[in-house]
Amino acid sequence: MSGKVRQLILYYFSGTGNARNVASWFAQEAESRSIPTELSDIAAIDRKHIKPFPPEALIGFVSPTHGFNYPPVSMYFIFRFPRSRGNRVFLMNTRAGLKLSKWFVPGLSGIALWLPAIVLLLKGYRIVGLRSIDLPSNWISFHPGVKEKVVESIYGHCKKITQIFASKILDGKKVYTAFRDIIQDLLVSPISIGYFFMGRFMLAKTFYANENCDNCELCINNCPMKAILTVDKRPFWSYRCESCMRCMNSCPKRAIETSHGYIIGIMLLINMVILNLFWKWVETFINIPQNNGWVWVLITFIRWGLTFILLVVFYRIYHYLLRIPLIRDLFYYTSLTRFRFWRRYKPSKKMISQLPELTPSDGKMFSP
Ligand SMILES: Cc1cc2nc3c(=O)[nH]c(=O)nc-3n(C[C@H](O)[C@H](O)[C@H](O)COP(=O)(O)O)c2cc1C
Repeated sequence: MSGKVRQLILYYFSGTGNARNVASWFAQEAESRSIPTELSDIAAIDRKHIKPFPPEALIGFVSPTHGFNYPPVSMYFIFRFPRSRGNRVFLMNTRAGLKLSKWFVPGLSGIALWLPAIVLLLKGYRIVGLRSIDLPSNWISFHPGVKEKVVESIYGHCKKITQIFASKILDGKKVYTAFRDIIQDLLVSPISIGYFFMGRFMLAKTFYANENCDNCELCINNCPMKAILTVDKRPFWSYRCESCMRCMNSCPKRAIETSHGYIIGIMLLINMVILNLFWKWVETFINIPQNNGWVWVLITFIRWGLTFILLVVFYRIYHYLLRIPLIRDLFYYTSLTRFRFWRRYKPSKKMISQLPELTPSDGKMFSP
């Protein structure tokens, strides 16, 4: 099937609204051509309800970029997506765009579009579009949120780009803008793989609630991954956390902080010391041969396994220790996120005023 599109099925995941807004702009473009459209939140949809698609349906995926890749929630969705007999598919990722003076500076995709594109190709889909959209960065563990004026400007720029891309794809054309970035994407691809497996064990575990937290549970209820639990009467970020930043950016009390990752540094250091002591102790009983390939592979696996186990244990201990005011203060007073200048990120108010509110994921479908 080729030619004009007769039905559009769009899936998106979004932490702070950027990817959701791109999906909505695309859906609006389809609506203006009277193309029936379904828009579904990957984090809320029950995959069992996805029925085989009619051959003329165009399917689209929009997701933020996390660690130069689609976040695991989007990737797992695509890994388990039903097979097709040639449906057209397009993939979009929103990235960390910036604006320096008059210049719009793009983010970096890594394998964010390439890996899902390969998976979907193997499942029998035809890729007709690959496009990154450089909306403002929401990664406020690393930098303060972008100023409102800059957000508005980047949003206006990106809405136009999305509309042009959508209109070409809906006219049945092929658009592979992502090929422009392929060299730098390949260069950072090793980091993507590392982040995919390690991100949630590391960076996603730097959040904590400061003393402004009044247990309103908004973060818990709004979390798209249902990853925040209540432990010791305080929010606790479980390993389902995608680090999507919705909690930290939307807390009305600015009670969610991040320790900028140095807690992970401390944990890894303790981890290394314990594991080194452990191996020295093991070597008093067994002589571990250094130049035997298989033994080395086995030992490496055991080392990584133990590192993971220790990280899980440490994170529990860390959360427990945060009950102690002195320890909490240590992280609180050494984190920059508590300062006023460390803005939280909000997507453009002007641009999205026509769109439905970003509510807790409830699985509802939005037909524009
Ligand atoms: C944990 C994390 C990792 C990120 N990694 C990247 C990245 O590798 N490349 C990039 O361009 N942007 C990266 N970003 C920025 C987001 O992809 C970008 O702000 C996106 O538009 C957010 O979309 P959302 O509002 O739908 O969640 C990252 C953001 C977070 C929170």
